[in-house]
Amino acid sequence: MSSKTKFSSKIGVIAATVGSAVGLGTVWRFPNEVQANGGSVFLIAYLFAVLLMGIPVMLSEFSIGRGSGADTITSFKKLTPGKPWWLIGVFAVLAPYLILMYYLVVAGWTVEYLWLSLTGGLYEGMGASPTQHFSAVMQSATSSTWSPIIWTLVMIALNILILMKGVQKGIERMSNLLMPLLFVILLVFCCVSLSLPGAMEGVVFFLRPDFSKLNPGVLISAVGQAFFSLSLGMGILITYSSYFPKTTNLPRTATKVSALVFLVAVMMGLIIFPAVKAFGIEGETQGAALIFVTLPQIFMELPFPQFWSSLFFFLLLVATLTSTVSIAEVAIAYLCDTFHMSRRKSCLIVLLPMVLFSSVCSLSLGVLSDVRVFGLNIFDLIDYTTSNIMLPLVAFAVCIYVGYGLPKSFFFKELSNDGSLKSRMTAVYYFLIRYVSPLLLLTVFINKIIS
Ligand code: PHE
Repeated sequence: MSSKTKFSSKIGVIAATVGSAVGLGTVWRFPNEVQANGGSVFLIAYLFAVLLMGIPVMLSEFSIGRGSGADTITSFKKLTPGKPWWLIGVFAVLAPYLILMYYLVVAGWTVEYLWLSLTGGLYEGMGASPTQHFSAVMQSATSSTWSPIIWTLVMIALNILILMKGVQKGIERMSNLLMPLLFVILLVFCCVSLSLPGAMEGVVFFLRPDFSKLNPGVLISAVGQAFFSLSLGMGILITYSSYFPKTTNLPRTATKVSALVFLVAVMMGLIIFPAVKAFGIEGETQGAALIFVTLPQIFMELPFPQFWSSLFFFLLLVATLTSTVSIAEVAIAYLCDTFHMSRRKSCLIVLLPMVLFSSVCSLSLGVLSDVRVFGLNIFDLIDYTTSNIMLPLVAFAVCIYVGYGLPKSFFFKELSNDGSLKSRMTAVYYFLIRYVSPLLLLTVFINKIIS
């Protein structure tokens, strides 16, 4: 396996991993969760969740991936031959594949909104109420029959183009180019939002702790947000870390990646809440409406709305593209490694069926919305089973595997690059992996199931 392609630089390692992590979870789901969970206390709970569960689980995945240098299923087989642990890998390949089906659809909406912003269509035919106008645009963009499918196809094509170019020339190059751009755009939006009159009210809501709002529900949501936003429990980090050079400092990489994801979350909060409070747009801050109804209204209050909305949807496109690529890479790496297929062929085998699967997901929000399983349409059903059941269970199983299934020396050897790095924190991470993170993940899982 030593001939396997690796990321070519430290920057590439960080950019690709942060690129995978920063997606809809941080840009969209995070502000929603803050809004629903009492503002600033959620941010504090999220920080603790990242420290107590996020970084340890990330390090577990890194140690499996880099230690084995193999895809998500083979890595378990290589590290513990003849034992059934590889079944965790099966779920860790299946979950992202299912997620890709609906994630590509949402990614398609962002391309559509970018197009509508660039061409000015988003602001055409405005009636008396902007809320009604943007709600109608969102309705047609997300649940009409053809346009969402066509935009999803554009997204699939983009993914194929990048992934076919390979790990270094495709994933790494794209991430090195797009991630710095993402940070610059976020910074620009932060400056604009914070300079609005009345912005302080939003900053206070987001940053001044009000512990009266703290309750177990907030903590559980924060753990859920942490593993979603850090791409844990999906085989993504196992796959990406199999491309890390042997010299990569794993603890430092995990800390940097988590810190950057946290930073993006904070920046998103500093963009959304001051703007929402400044313009007194309170109602539509939940779910998809926050991005597709509220934000366009905010852009209307600024000079050059078309410019700002194009810039924002470009940002969202970058965030979703770097994430979809990483989600698809899990299955592609599996096919390449296990069946010795060419990259080209495995990209097509993984992504072409998405044309059908994602179209069905998209249609389930429109003409197929009556097709229901356990009361949920297909889109929501896949979202529910993956986010609430598969991801926490896989992340839990990964902790149990590294904490109890593998020898302790494996984790210590991987984190210290065979003894050449010294880190006193390794023992702390190991303790968290054995006793704290699995408990937190199990609590989230049980809570989601009973609620
Ligand atoms: N972490 C990424 C995000 O927040 C990728 C991801 C994809 C996470 C699918 C969960 C599910 O968007």
